[in-house]
Amino acid sequence: MMHQTVLCGSATVSDGRDVHLRLDGLTKRYGESVAVAALDLAVPKGELVALLGPSGCGKTTTLRMVAGLIKPTNGRIVVGSNDITIMPTYRRDMGLVFQSYALFPHMSVAKNVAFGLEMRSVPKPEIERRVKEALGMVRLEALAERKPRELSGGQQQRVALARALVIRPSILLLDEPLSNLDAKLRDEMRNEIRDIQQSLGITAVFVTHDQVEALSMCDKVVVMQGGKLEQVGTPVDVYEHPASPFVASFVGRTNRLKGTAQGDGSVTIGAMKVLVPGRPGGKVEIMVRPHRMKLVEEGSVEDVAGQEVNRLAGHLKRVTFVGDLLQYSVDVGGAEIVVEAASDHGRGFRIVGTPVAVLWRVEDTMVFGRGA
Ligand SMILES: Nc1ncnc2c1ncn2[C@@H]1O[C@H](COP(=O)(O)OP(=O)(O)O)[C@@H](O)[C@H]1O
Ligand SMILES: [Mg+2]
Repeated sequence: MMHQTVLCGSATVSDGRDVHLRLDGLTKRYGESVAVAALDLAVPKGELVALLGPSGCGKTTTLRMVAGLIKPTNGRIVVGSNDITIMPTYRRDMGLVFQSYALFPHMSVAKNVAFGLEMRSVPKPEIERRVKEALGMVRLEALAERKPRELSGGQQQRVALARALVIRPSILLLDEPLSNLDAKLRDEMRNEIRDIQQSLGITAVFVTHDQVEALSMCDKVVVMQGGKLEQVGTPVDVYEHPASPFVASFVGRTNRLKGTAQGDGSVTIGAMKVLVPGRPGGKVEIMVRPHRMKLVEEGSVEDVAGQEVNRLAGHLKRVTFVGDLLQYSVDVGGAEIVVEAASDHGRGFRIVGTPVAVLWRVEDTMVFGRGA
């Protein structure tokens, strides 16, 4: 587990911004099993933070504890300077959006959005005004009188978002809100949610198992595994400087090779030898992103602008055309390496069995220890 300035219990984070939401040792146990293990996190005001990790890693449990829907076993939840750990949900001033839209089927869009305000006994004219404003934010004014079943999935999720925003929550909590939508709509909604979050300057926690969503939408990414925090950082941090092999392989595609570091800046992998940054020793795993590698003809002389490069010879095993990319699988000394290249109208190496070489810059090699 990594401890960074952003995780400490102080009132401001390293960039000087006020902490809005703080989790201190937040823990949830179900009998013997630990769903969330002593999570420390500080979310600055106005930031959109992603909780990212595989299914079952404790994202929903964390979010529901913040919302007051699940009682923590241990630890504290602090908003501003108020400890809200045992405060009831309805007093927490948080807006919630779930994967299942959870709309009232018999109520119109406008009624669904108005519901939270009616529960809070807001005067009728103000309800009307605020419902209109919230539906405007999600571009649904024209559909205010429809029933949820008369809407597409994307529109229903917009209603759910309007319903969360209409109460003007201080914190917005979203649990996989885009997972039920098709790919194109997901892209649109990503941008829409980000735009609304930024224009309102609202602090938000976004749960997702999709690394693209986390990287593209959020200010910070909190990578979780097995109820624990693996790394907290900006999208660029966690992608370019992953703290562990788990983070490297979960956040983006990567090639993984196990070897032994010689202490002189080289690593032997079977009969192969590659150069790595620094002078690690002992058993290591090296990782290289497929798009950082280049496929060339065997024996070709490549000039990589005076950079230190690794070069491994192999045979082309498979070529996959995925529209914008060509993915090459290369058999290198018995290991399979995937290389990605921008697809130039589908042109590229095509013949399986072709002798090729894989090149990459030494500095693009990530190295992790594997213990003794
Ligand atoms: N009510 C419960 N009783 C027992 N175990 C639970 C309960 N809710 C969740 N869990 C377990 O806690 C872990 C974390 O679950 P969850 O927070 O839903 O994960 P995620 O949202 O990351 O997929 C899982 O192993 C899950 O099976
Ligand atoms: Mg979940």
